Amino acid sequence: MRFRIRRPGSTPVPPSPEEQEQAPAPAEYLLEPEVAEPPLSPHEIALIRASVSVVEPLAADMTVYFYAILFARYPEVRPLFPPGMDAQRGRLLRALLRIVDLVDDPESLVRFCGHLGRDHRKFGTLRDHFPAVGECLLASLARYAGPAWTQDIADAWTKAYGVVADVMIGAAEEDARTRPAVWPATVVHRVPCGPGIAEVTVRPHTPYEYAAGQYVSVETPWHPRQWRSYSPANAPREDGTLTFHVRAVPGGTVSTALVHRAVPGDVVHLGAPMGDMVLDAAVHNDLLCVAGGTGLAPIRALVEEVARRGGRHQVNLFLGARTGAELYGVDDMLRMAQRHHWLTVRGAVSDEYIPGIRGSLPQVLAEYGPWYQHDVFLSGPVPMVTSARQTLTLTGTSPDRIHHDPFDVSALATT
Ligand SMILES: Cc1cc2nc3c(=O)[nH]c(=O)nc-3n(C[C@H](O)[C@H](O)[C@H](O)COP(=O)(O)OP(=O)(O)OC[C@H]3O[C@@H](n4cnc5c(N)ncnc54)[C@H](O)[C@@H]3O)c2cc1C
Ligand code: HEM
Repeated sequence: MRFRIRRPGSTPVPPSPEEQEQAPAPAEYLLEPEVAEPPLSPHEIALIRASVSVVEPLAADMTVYFYAILFARYPEVRPLFPPGMDAQRGRLLRALLRIVDLVDDPESLVRFCGHLGRDHRKFGTLRDHFPAVGECLLASLARYAGPAWTQDIADAWTKAYGVVADVMIGAAEEDARTRPAVWPATVVHRVPCGPGIAEVTVRPHTPYEYAAGQYVSVETPWHPRQWRSYSPANAPREDGTLTFHVRAVPGGTVSTALVHRAVPGDVVHLGAPMGDMVLDAAVHNDLLCVAGGTGLAPIRALVEEVARRGGRHQVNLFLGARTGAELYGVDDMLRMAQRHHWLTVRGAVSDEYIPGIRGSLPQVLAEYGPWYQHDVFLSGPVPMVTSARQTLTLTGTSPDRIHHDPFDVSALATT
């Protein structure tokens, strides 16, 4: 199967000779299959799905085996991975299961694998690494499928892996024409701003383009190859700096280092910005924003962005917490509300009696709604986002108006 590149929104047409000679397409262009047909036949898809159902119960052991043989046969790829591999083991498997789910939906498959390929640039993954991973993946599947493994299944997997690898490599190489894989950035401030929370401001060494509401992968010098996502709490600034609100989670590797160890002059690395929690320049619907804890960061960036664009949206912001003391960032947001007539800030505290702001977020949202004419941005702990989403859809908000970041690995949430 072959793929070509199209600008979002444009009509797919065969490439003309002139088009083929044009400069490379920028990163936001889409890779799409030339022929919108599943890359595999229904029989091959059935073979792959049947083999997955055999190995799925043995998945944990299979992925341990996969990495063991990958690192034994190809020691040169070991330095790309973090020293501790537990989290990554689960992610690879979930990615493969997602790919198997999407194998008969070429558009989503290409979007998913393209995103994964671009995201792999920050790990230092190269075209030449793919055959090694493919070989070890097939060897692991064969071993754990046991007698269920046949030559037909091996052929179907080889073909499927080839399609996925082609899309990942193509998207990564296309991306490499327009931007770096990582951006070094110097820490310029670290300011404590709440219990176990710090504002960490960094200045990228080269221009770093992102949109308010997006999030960024960060690698610190103390834990190389351990990438974690953090959301800038500011809209893009003229001086190019980004401020992250980081909460040190108990036992947390990267968050603890950023909150307690980072000092001005330290250099971190940023991956490319990700996420769709951004404002559509063409739409001026009123906004409902719901934030809990450091989930306020991307919402704060969105509020700054609305201000930058002249306050053309009415913004209703709800801050949720269990107790008044945990109500993070409220003073800062109230100060912003004093400056901007279009911004209203309300708190919701679930486990403490505070007149005026007593109640869980879903209760408070239901009380002040309806919100079905608003564009909604949710950010915070997973249970909070899930329950707010549920309340809003039950009260008539269309799911495609509700935006939130992925709860886990960005690539795994992108289809
Ligand atoms: C899209 C996205 C945006 C994010 N934005 C921000 C942000 O702006 N600010 C911010 O502080 N964090 C943010 N996070 C969370 C952040 O990416 C890390 O997961 C978090 O800092 C923990 O990383 P760690 O290396 O310190 O912990 P790890 O070493 O990965 O984990 C250590 C222990 O903490 C637990 N743990 C991991 N994450 C959390 C958590 N969030 N809450 C409670 N326990 C946890 C783990 O299960 C493990 O037991 C975001 C996450 C995502 C997916
Ligand atoms: C079909 C092919 C592949 C799939 C489906 C896949 C999938 C994934 C996924 C889902 C993640 C987690 C991403 C994240 O945390 O944001 C990941 C991480 C990673 N992948 Fe791949 N990958 C593939 C090929 C490769 C290849 C060829 C290499 C190069 C050796 C590679 C190296 C890595 C590294 C170094 C990480 C980071 C590990 C970590 O942070 O714990 N991957 N991969």
